[in-house]
Amino acid sequence: MTTFWSWYVTILTSGTIIGLIWLVLSTRKGQRPETTEETVGHVFDGIAELDNPLPKWWFMLFILTIIFAVGYLVLYPGMGNWKGIFPGYEGGWTAVKQYEREMTKGDEQYGPLYAKYAAMPISEVANDPQALKMGGRLFASNCSVCHGSDGKGVYGFPNLADSEWRWGGEPDTIQTTILAGRHAVMPGWGEVLGEAGVRNVSAYVLTEIAGRKLPENSKVDIDAGKKLFAGNCVACHGPQGHGTPAMGAPNLSNPAAFIYGTSFAQLQQTIRYGRQGVMPTQQAFLGEDKVHLLAAYVYSLSHTETDAKVEKDAK
Ligand code: HEC
Ligand code: HEC
Repeated sequence: MTTFWSWYVTILTSGTIIGLIWLVLSTRKGQRPETTEETVGHVFDGIAELDNPLPKWWFMLFILTIIFAVGYLVLYPGMGNWKGIFPGYEGGWTAVKQYEREMTKGDEQYGPLYAKYAAMPISEVANDPQALKMGGRLFASNCSVCHGSDGKGVYGFPNLADSEWRWGGEPDTIQTTILAGRHAVMPGWGEVLGEAGVRNVSAYVLTEIAGRKLPENSKVDIDAGKKLFAGNCVACHGPQGHGTPAMGAPNLSNPAAFIYGTSFAQLQQTIRYGRQGVMPTQQAFLGEDKVHLLAAYVYSLSHTETDAKVEKDAK
């Protein structure tokens, strides 16, 4: 701030405070101490104002707010270029300094804990109740928006608490998924296979691979669908449709783990237009140590049943 504006703010602010002090004191001066029926003279819509003093507590409240304002302006930056003398803040308090201080305090407090768990194998961390508690908190604030507060997934977002994995359920694979993120690419087949082709291959996947029933009176050719599957889908989903974790191609024989729906119509929609699920990378945002804890927490959801339950009950 230039000197001019600094003085401008300082004079305006102190002038206002001095003016307020004068106003509060001058309106009190000469007032009678006792209550009265006399009015001050003006009438609005038949309502008159009695000429009584302000209650003492109210007057004191005004004085206190003025003292507060002065104290605030001494401690915090507010008067032009004045930086304030808040104890413990070299060169004056700022919100950024306070934030950095709190972060450093957090790191000092939790850093050694994170480091301790970061040095342990994930499967071991997944058995440590305190680690699971910390992991659970991280999950609640960073992951539950998409995967659900219990990690069981919703439409479009996979269940992390079951035994089915799109990218692999080994501790290190889970960690890689969270650190680097994943981008699944299921191409659309509408233009390649045509409407009848999409219908037939969907019917084949639904009945022969996923073991579900078709809606009644569906006009489909399952054998034609089978051929289309062998020709176009096995490269990613495998000959039996069991999936390929390296590309995130899911196991189609377990409809409970489908994230885009299992009805005949939804299946056709998926196959006609394709799907591109994105798990966002967390490396830059959370850092390796927190992701390590999160991987352990996610791993525990499907592996250490009792610990995960203890953690949930404790919440
Ligand atoms: C290039 C590899 C690739 C090919 C080829 C491919 N898919 Fe996929 N498919 C994927 C991937 C990856 C996903 C996961 C998409 C996601 O998670 O967003 C997927 C998802 C699906 C799903 C959705 C499962 C769910 O979770 O709801 C169905 C159904 C499916 N594929 C069927 C097929 C059929 C039928 C074919 C052949 C016509 C086929 N796919 C060909 C890679 C492939
Ligand atoms: C913006 C939504 C979103 C957020 C936030 C998110 N995820 Fe995901 N996550 C996804 C999607 C979508 C997929 C599935 C990608 C695909 O289609 O293959 C996924 C996949 C995963 C997988 C792989 C599952 C499998 O079957 O292989 C793991 C593990 C995972 N997420 C963990 C996490 C963790 C831990 C967090 C919190 C740090 C998190 N996710 C936050 C959307 C999200």
